[in-house]
Amino acid sequence: MNIHYFATTLFAALLSVQQGFSQQNGITPTGPVVSVQTEGQKINIKTSNAYAEVTVYTPSIIRVRMDNKPFDKDFSYAVVGKVVPSKVNITQNDKEIDVVTDSLKAVIQKQPFSIAFYTPDGKVINEDEHGLNTSWVGTSVTTYKKMQDDEHFVGLGEKTGNLDRKGNGYTHWNSDVYGYSVAQDPLYSTIPFYIGIHHGLNYGVFLDNTYQSDFNFGASNNRFSSFGARGGEMNYYFIYHKRAADIIASYTYLTGRMPMPPMWSLGYQQNRYSYYPEAEVMHIAHTLREKRIPADGITLDIHYMDRYQLFTWNKDRFPNPTGMNTELNKLGFKTTVIVDPGIKVEKGAPAYESGLRDSVYVTYPDGQPYTAQVWPGWCNFTDFTSEKGRTWWRKQVDFFAKSGVSGIWNDMNEFSTWGQKIPDNVMFDYDGKKTNHLQAHNVFGMQMVRASYEGAKEHFPERPFILSRSGYAGMQRYSAIWTGDNRAEEDHMLQGVRLLTSLGMSGVSFAAMDIGGFTGNPTIPLFTRWMELGAFIPYYRNHTANQAKSAEPWTMGEDALDISRNYISLRYQLLPYLYSAFYESTQTGMPVMRSLAIDYTFDPKVLDATYQNEYEFGHAFLVAPFESTKEYGKVYLPQGTWYDLYNGSVEKGGQEKIVPLTLSKLPVYVKGGSIIPMQSLIQTTAEQPTDTLAIHIYNGSTTNSIVYYEDDGKSFNYQKGDFYKRAISFDPQKRTIEFKAAEGSYKSHFKYIKLIMHGFEGVNALGSNKLKSGTYAFLNAASTDVHEHFYNDSCPVKYATIGNVSGNIQLKY
Ligand code: NOJ
Repeated sequence: MNIHYFATTLFAALLSVQQGFSQQNGITPTGPVVSVQTEGQKINIKTSNAYAEVTVYTPSIIRVRMDNKPFDKDFSYAVVGKVVPSKVNITQNDKEIDVVTDSLKAVIQKQPFSIAFYTPDGKVINEDEHGLNTSWVGTSVTTYKKMQDDEHFVGLGEKTGNLDRKGNGYTHWNSDVYGYSVAQDPLYSTIPFYIGIHHGLNYGVFLDNTYQSDFNFGASNNRFSSFGARGGEMNYYFIYHKRAADIIASYTYLTGRMPMPPMWSLGYQQNRYSYYPEAEVMHIAHTLREKRIPADGITLDIHYMDRYQLFTWNKDRFPNPTGMNTELNKLGFKTTVIVDPGIKVEKGAPAYESGLRDSVYVTYPDGQPYTAQVWPGWCNFTDFTSEKGRTWWRKQVDFFAKSGVSGIWNDMNEFSTWGQKIPDNVMFDYDGKKTNHLQAHNVFGMQMVRASYEGAKEHFPERPFILSRSGYAGMQRYSAIWTGDNRAEEDHMLQGVRLLTSLGMSGVSFAAMDIGGFTGNPTIPLFTRWMELGAFIPYYRNHTANQAKSAEPWTMGEDALDISRNYISLRYQLLPYLYSAFYESTQTGMPVMRSLAIDYTFDPKVLDATYQNEYEFGHAFLVAPFESTKEYGKVYLPQGTWYDLYNGSVEKGGQEKIVPLTLSKLPVYVKGGSIIPMQSLIQTTAEQPTDTLAIHIYNGSTTNSIVYYEDDGKSFNYQKGDFYKRAISFDPQKRTIEFKAAEGSYKSHFKYIKLIMHGFEGVNALGSNKLKSGTYAFLNAASTDVHEHFYNDSCPVKYATIGNVSGNIQLKY
């Protein structure tokens, strides 16, 4: 051994023993810093027991990486954002290293290694718990953060429980949880990102580690919050901004943002486990049209396959799938089909044999394919963590393109096997870094949807729709998610809302839950309320288990049908607004379905369990869901002015309010200042709306600006500039409504803009346009006289129609 190395190591060991930093009871602390080396925006640190790297990614993002051995090659399935060259000032003395950016300051203590983050004016944002810091127990590594006074936590992806995660602990291990309870953990996906809130400050932590990870927000302790994983490195990104929306923007800068979804996927989707044979599928499609229920999607569950074998059609049930899909397309429907990871082991079966030939299946260390049971019986499983496996899968996806399929629904990709005990020693490529099941498990589902998305992009004639049950941080780049096998119960509907808003805060905007509940049979009121809510959920799909009764809107009686039709119709009229909200997600990561904790982070009422199910749908709507059994509900309206969506009555913000509930109406409020583009009612997105875009403006005291976005809704040409977008703003001080010049080469479908003004009673003209007085109803009158009493509400409005001039327009009122 080199004498110098020996002496340094001995010195560090003595120092750590003397200061109590040596291993104790199998716990290895990081220990004191023994060397520091700066490399641009990165600091390489050696401590007595570990290695650390602290890197300034952007002025607002600092990455902390630690291991108790020299680092493996840096690799991430989640992170695609690069280090941005930034102004960073790094200084050090005997005690500490200071890292200062334009947005925050990190202080690394040397005795022992510990890190704290401060605002530029010196307020503590987040700091290691001084006695505990980071340590290893066996292969597990955990970082302990001091629990700040009155600290709260939100996010962490698809997690049950309250919006405020304080006092609870959570585990990430992607699991198949049929009919899960509303307190169950873990569920199907892993997004180890959360936002901490205290003293008017908020920050984000993203732990990028695919092993089983554990988060503790003060469960069973009064000292710390912590995050850690059962193996691999401590590897986290600390994000600080003043606004939660910017934290989400930084998190999605790191992990990527969703592409524009196909327009049809924002329409209503009718699912069932399972619609077959072809005659039944066509019957469903025709019934939707006959009953004037707008819809765009029909989904085929596992029974379309031949004995559940992937990449096959059951020829008895679906003798001519391409013909059927062409017929469906003519009726304005797109078809989505389910796929599972398990490939049936069957000699002579083309897909199975080709996977075997290409050695794409995961194996045991002795080279034998890992074989387990799922729907088709004994199966092998593609290694989606290998480029070879993904390439193979991408090729198979052509099978669906040839059958005229438009969407791929990736199920069971946690991945699930009967018995749910995949052995630890199943081997994965992990993109060349060969590993075992423990490290690959949580990322498997995301890599499956990556392959499905890339395959569909290659083979489908149009923008594909991809849906996944499982996922990992960054999955939004490829796929939407739904929350699996929920139950047809009241608290599940509300828990589902929280799962979706939490996913939204964690980078996944395109999210869904099974409307009506998957297991069990909803009561008619519950089904009705859920259908109303679905209109305000990013992906609107009704789905039911095979043992449950049918749950199409017409199976629940006339009232449920009328109400469902009304809300689905409202959804279709809102598509220009919704599409623009999705565009925002593609640009900033801001979710379509927003917990109030994003826009009103420091308002304590928002985290109160009484109001935790309220959310914003895009920038304008506040949705307050309640059990269908309740006659009254307590609503909290945050600061600002709020309008009742249905009758336009004005409510002051900062107010808790008891509201009477009726089954025909979901409580929805519109924020003063909102700008809401809408179109005429269509039955499918394949149909063109009229040539007038209705833009609803709600008076309020704050300025607001939105980006209105349009493109062809189906190709990738928008990525080459073929879009139409323009900023629209409302300024109550200057008393103006302004349309900025349109950008992009796409020609808007709309020739006219009808401005519908809410709350502008004394105003008679808008620029040179005289305003007319009238009313506007968001819900149609009921289709039968018996139900007329449902909807007699309308809002008093002023309106004017102008030509859709693409240049700058400023209208004064
Ligand atoms: C489990 C999924 O969660 C469910 O939605 C689907 O219907 C069944 N698998 C059958 O494929």
